[in-house]
Amino acid sequence: MSDWHPSHASRWFAALCAERLRRTPVAVRLLDRPVVLARTGDGQAFALEDRCPHRHAPLSAGCATGDGLVCPYHGWRFDRDGRLCEIPGLSPDAALPSVRVRRIAVREHDGLIWLRLDGRDEGELAPLVREFGPGSRRFLWQTRWPAHVVDAVENFLDPLHTHWIHPGLVRRGGARSEVLARFAPNADGFEVSYRGQAQQSGLLYRLFESPRDSERARFDAPGSAQIEYRYRNGGTVRISLHFSPESAASTAVFASLHVENRWAPAWLVRRLVWPLLKRVNDQDARMLGLQSANLRRFPGVRGASTELDLVRPWVEAFWNDGAAPPAAPREVRMRL
Ligand code: FES
Ligand SMILES: [Fe+2]
Repeated sequence: MSDWHPSHASRWFAALCAERLRRTPVAVRLLDRPVVLARTGDGQAFALEDRCPHRHAPLSAGCATGDGLVCPYHGWRFDRDGRLCEIPGLSPDAALPSVRVRRIAVREHDGLIWLRLDGRDEGELAPLVREFGPGSRRFLWQTRWPAHVVDAVENFLDPLHTHWIHPGLVRRGGARSEVLARFAPNADGFEVSYRGQAQQSGLLYRLFESPRDSERARFDAPGSAQIEYRYRNGGTVRISLHFSPESAASTAVFASLHVENRWAPAWLVRRLVWPLLKRVNDQDARMLGLQSANLRRFPGVRGASTELDLVRPWVEAFWNDGAAPPAAPREVRMRL
């Protein structure tokens, strides 16, 4: 059982890197619901609840049939929409029972497979997901953070932990400068723009960046967060993370790097930038693991916040109540 707000079942979440889904079914978990993903013979992805209605074997342990799945236990065969098509051993004139497997809606976009649990193939993916220009993606990677989705999203969008968790890599503690952060909600989520930091102090930025025009963080409901850097020479770099809760203590994370108008071939990004970003990821995942283990020792506690905790109230309200209350834009000075 889960206590996710029911409205999240009608939202699209990233579930798997598309290249990981071939002929063998793959089990994923979204909002505490087990789901099996598979492809038809012509390569179309489909998704069903990962439970056979006969004796509840996981369909993800079965095989793809070309147009659906066959259960590994007694061979009941289902089509891509979850309709029961065949029961091996049943006399040809006996009627099939009227059971079916629940269908989950699927879309494939920019290298990711997206799911909507209520089964309706309606609505759009988040705007920041649809905005990427063709060919601008340099890498795509899938991992898991041992944390509640709210803590995971907050971590990515919070600049103030970077001096402590990624010392020297993202920012240096002794080199803070004053920045004006502006938080502005919009119809799809919110945006935080940072003014005053033409160049960041960490190694990653000193190695790979030129002077910046702007830095902004975005969040589009339900789980897409992005940090975008625009440079004076016209280039743009976007680091995006799509967060999909598996359970209250585990969040699947899909990370991508998109580059526009800037010389940065994929092989070079893979070889130079990627190992450093991977280290940043491991540092965040470690701290989030410590945080959620400690929350299990102190259940029900609420954190104290200051004006520096800009994004937490919005993200928390959205995930707990299904929508964030209307809020006015606000500006905060911080030393980063
Ligand atoms: S449990 Fe699936 S066919 Fe029996
Ligand atoms: Fe971090």
